[in-house]
Amino acid sequence: MRVVGVFDSGVGGLSVANALQKALPGVKIILREDKDNLPYGNKTPDQLLNLVEPILQQMVKAGCEVIVIACNTVTTTIIGQLRLRIKVPLIGMEPMVKPAAQLTKTGCIAVFATPTTLASKRYGELKENFAEGITVIEPDCSSWSYMIENDQININQIQKNVDEAINSDADVIVLGCTHYHWIEDTISLLVNGKALVLQPEKPVIEQLKKVLEQLP
Ligand code: DGL
Repeated sequence: MRVVGVFDSGVGGLSVANALQKALPGVKIILREDKDNLPYGNKTPDQLLNLVEPILQQMVKAGCEVIVIACNTVTTTIIGQLRLRIKVPLIGMEPMVKPAAQLTKTGCIAVFATPTTLASKRYGELKENFAEGITVIEPDCSSWSYMIENDQININQIQKNVDEAINSDADVIVLGCTHYHWIEDTISLLVNGKALVLQPEKPVIEQLKKVLEQLP
């Protein structure tokens, strides 16, 4: 049986692990979180590297043959450095700027993500390379991962950010943090058909299938 690792700071990893297990019931999933150090979304790349590398090394020792980095914050900041240090394939998750830019009809998209993801070089490159001429709204979601991790859902806060997106004419909302997958249905309800809500579980499942096929 193939062994797949899933890593995130907290409950975002569980939502991704659940989706992967459902799509690939024949693989064993080892989920690791770093609850002592969350949220990751306001940490620097150096801080993240110090925290994440030892955990991934332990996951490899525990038998993971491929690891899904179920964290946009880690992927957009340090996945390149991690790939040099970790000897199994790493699959990242990052904001779906490219598909959103292709799907928008209004020329405006919204990205909901952590401050560290929004400040990352990689995210800047995604916008530059794939969203040229598109307006990208980035509502302040800095409290969201704490809110979701601690099950303190503040519907007014979610409504405020959704309203900011919709009032700016965004017709695609990108969930750029795996914690937000837990409130995808709530966001879709609040959006009320005025925007598509995108998150990367499906493409990650496809990528994982490909990587598993290529393993020796
Ligand atoms: N779930 C993580 C992400 O996708 C980060 C959440 C956090 O720890 O701030 O970015």
